[in-house]
Amino acid sequence: MNVVKTIADLRAAVARARGEGKRIGFVPTMGNLHAGHIALVKKAGQRADFVVASIFVNPLQFGPNEDLASYPRTLAADQDKLFEAGCHLLFAPSVEEMYPHGQALQTIVRVPGVSEGLCGGSRPGHFDGVSTVVSKLFNMVLPDLAVFGQKDFQQLAVIRTMVRDLNMPVQIIGEPIVRADDGLALSSRNGYLSADERATAPVLHRTLQQLADALRNGERDYPALLESGHQALQAAGLRPDYLEIRNAADLQPVKPDSHEVVILAAAFLGKTRLLDNLLVDIT
Ligand code: PAJ
Repeated sequence: MNVVKTIADLRAAVARARGEGKRIGFVPTMGNLHAGHIALVKKAGQRADFVVASIFVNPLQFGPNEDLASYPRTLAADQDKLFEAGCHLLFAPSVEEMYPHGQALQTIVRVPGVSEGLCGGSRPGHFDGVSTVVSKLFNMVLPDLAVFGQKDFQQLAVIRTMVRDLNMPVQIIGEPIVRADDGLALSSRNGYLSADERATAPVLHRTLQQLADALRNGERDYPALLESGHQALQAAGLRPDYLEIRNAADLQPVKPDSHEVVILAAAFLGKTRLLDNLLVDIT
């Protein structure tokens, strides 16, 4: 696996692969890789001939009081995992390489509507940072396809909308959430949890499962369902940031003719913000 740190070297390596007639697959990440990221890399390897991954902790998508400084940076271990997963090229740029003019960018890519509410509501500017950096990365890599996780369900919706609205020639593939045996969605931020908190954390997924069961059993009193979910989270010591049930296709409120809904939640456990969601077929 080739590791490059500059945009020029990245472009040269991708151009060589494309010159050999290869289809380019891309997996953007912020590193500290776990089995969820690796599943995306393997998916890219099934759909493309040449797999590019990026590791870049993007300052633009972190709020002033968030964990930019403490976000885990584990490049050596990440490289080994990517190599084993069949990645061909890793792009690991510096902040200066990505933002040579500082973060006072002239151009911001904003995807209103789908980026509002949910995580966009509690993390102002977060999705502007995500859509801007992903646009930049797409323009650097020029991939045929890119793979994202459903773990960040709203992020995937933002990226799909951006690609559609700006006619970006990239196929977006969404991959299911990879979980620990006890149901906790894998996340780089799980490393912040103490042993006690780690034991409590699966309550988030269990609560979503209980709501999903109720929906499958025909319960349609959404306010009552969400209230019971809030109570379950709080009883376990989690502080819900949001808990919502939306139409899966567009993240709009559930309509009477919705077929697939998604239950989305973010909750604090100590200082760690856990994020999870569950798709439910309610037809
Ligand atoms: P990061 O949090 O590192 O996630 C990179 C990709 O891995 C995202 O597409 C995310 O949805 C996916 N992922 C994370 N945990 C997962 C899990 N348990 N199962 C399946 N997929 C999982 O998301 C970002 O980075 C950044 O916002 C980025 C898109 C790289 C832009 O900076």
